[in-house]
Amino acid sequence: GATMDCEDLLFSYKGILYPTTVCSPEVFKALECFEARREDVILAGYPKSGTNWAGQILTDLVTTAAENTEDETNSLNDEELEEFPYLEIGDTEKYQRMEKLSSRRVILTHLFPHNLPESIFKNKAKILVLVRNPKDVATSFYHFTNDMSPLPSYATWDDFFTAFMTGKMPWGSYFDYICEWSKHVDEENVMTITYEELKENRALGVKKIAEFFGLLLTEEELQAVTDRSGFQAMKENAQKTHGAFGNILFRKGSVSDWKNLFTEDQNQEMDKTFEECLAKTKLGAKIKY
Ligand code: A3P
Repeated sequence: GATMDCEDLLFSYKGILYPTTVCSPEVFKALECFEARREDVILAGYPKSGTNWAGQILTDLVTTAAENTEDETNSLNDEELEEFPYLEIGDTEKYQRMEKLSSRRVILTHLFPHNLPESIFKNKAKILVLVRNPKDVATSFYHFTNDMSPLPSYATWDDFFTAFMTGKMPWGSYFDYICEWSKHVDEENVMTITYEELKENRALGVKKIAEFFGLLLTEEELQAVTDRSGFQAMKENAQKTHGAFGNILFRKGSVSDWKNLFTEDQNQEMDKTFEECLAKTKLGAKIKY
């Protein structure tokens, strides 16, 4: 069935499943030697948590702050921005090219903490951990995999739901991911933000993120970053920022769309798993449903 086909498209790296169509063991091996810098700006989030959204906010903040300091070397050009967003996606030489960048690098990643290069923690690069409630993540992921050819598709929503609950899917289990990142939330170089709080008050989220990374912007500039990161604004700009991919990336951008997809049984099953696995973890406690 479709789930079997899907499992054929996965490989395991240090116990976590990743999609062969987007990632490779060779690239992961090359990544192990990556030297993170203290000034790198890192965004960690499970797929479909709003990583492109928070990623745009971060890039915009870093670029604007660099213009303020008139430090041209501190900002990437469009091609560089396009090449480097996801740390784990690329070719084996990508990390050598990243070495040459003199700028403050904005790095997005879906990797589990133990899959990241050790230098990120050793050199105390600041990390923003983004989380979204599991029901909307599953909903967003299901639509995305079925719309997008590079990832395996599932015959039915029920098949996808089973894969999501067992974690036998690309980028591994959401529940394990939150559990593992929970162990890092108290570190001084780590800040967490939820999709839901960003949705509720984007201006405040933008401000908090800028403060955490020590990025100096005026009130007007912060407002401009906030305006440019609205769902409609990003959707309209999607072709330019994400190419064909943009059409499926900015789907609904809302909270609670899961209500259109989950059965009552699935709803209860997820509540139960959440309660058992995550409710008592530090990151789980921040997740709003
Ligand atoms: P939906 O599929 O629920 O619409 P990621 O970037 O991690 O792949 O996450 C994609 C999800 O973030 C999608 O969720 C997408 O619509 C949502 N998203 C992207 N930009 C957004 C924005 N500016 N505001 C709110 N949600 C946004």
